[in-house]
Amino acid sequence: MNTLSGKNVLVTGASSGFGEAIALQFAQAGAHVALVARREEMLRALAQRIEPSGVRTIVCPCDVGDEAQVRATVDKIDAEFGQIDVLVNNAGTNVPNRTIVDTTTADFHAVVDVNLVSAFLFTSLLLPQMKERGAGTIINIASRAANFPSLLAGVAYSSAKMAMKALNQITNEEGNPHGVRACVINPGVAATPLLDRRPVPPPQETRHLMMQAEDIAATVLYAASLPQRANADRIDLYATSTEVY
Ligand SMILES: NC(=O)c1ccc[n+]([C@@H]2O[C@H](COP(=O)([O-])OP(=O)(O)OC[C@H]3O[C@@H](n4cnc5c(N)ncnc54)[C@H](OP(=O)(O)O)[C@@H]3O)[C@@H](O)[C@H]2O)c1
Repeated sequence: MNTLSGKNVLVTGASSGFGEAIALQFAQAGAHVALVARREEMLRALAQRIEPSGVRTIVCPCDVGDEAQVRATVDKIDAEFGQIDVLVNNAGTNVPNRTIVDTTTADFHAVVDVNLVSAFLFTSLLLPQMKERGAGTIINIASRAANFPSLLAGVAYSSAKMAMKALNQITNEEGNPHGVRACVINPGVAATPLLDRRPVPPPQETRHLMMQAEDIAATVLYAASLPQRANADRIDLYATSTEVY
């Protein structure tokens, strides 16, 4: 039996890309998974694929940019699924407008709310119970843009992802004395539908050189399966190929 078997895991942004792969790999490792995203039909299809693993799932349609919906979702998971051992703050988005001149305040809020504020909210709602139990793991999916903010990633996205590093640091300061750890993972470019939100999406024929969602999922599981006494505080995960960005 591995260390993840029987754990309760909550994955935001589980309907696509990294989140879908993360949920699948946790289920394959014997963990129960709470699936959070807006597109209910995608979450239901994923829950069906997970079913043969014999673990429990709960499907939670939720716009993570809406505080009331996040609060209601955490309440529902607590009541119907149980307390969470591993939280993966993965939901994220970007807007085609990347420059300061083109980015509207609404664009900025949309990106910051989904990438950053939601991670803060889920953390603030789940950290107290983790501290009380003396254990818990929070994984924040930030980005290479957290280390190297850029116009390619955009002003809103780069700002949100850099701030996730601060959130991770403070989660550790607050959580570590109570046995709770936080890990920020900074992936470089990976082949998921998120790339189609770029003003000029990368060509399909270069995408096989990029990291794939499964690679990020394997990294999340690595961090979550370390003994609770060890914390992979920050993992930078970049493509080996120099031909992709
Ligand atoms: N792909 C990359 O190159 C790359 C690199 C570095 C970091 N990342 C980060 O990795 C994470 C996952 O991205 P991905 O590449 O897997 O992209 P993706 O395939 O587009 O998946 C994004 C996920 O976030 C969810 N989401 C977006 N807005 C949401 C909202 N308002 N409420 C709830 N869920 C929402 C989406 O679900 P619904 O649409 O169903 O709501 C979807 O499940 C993001 O945080 C992204 O910034 C990606």
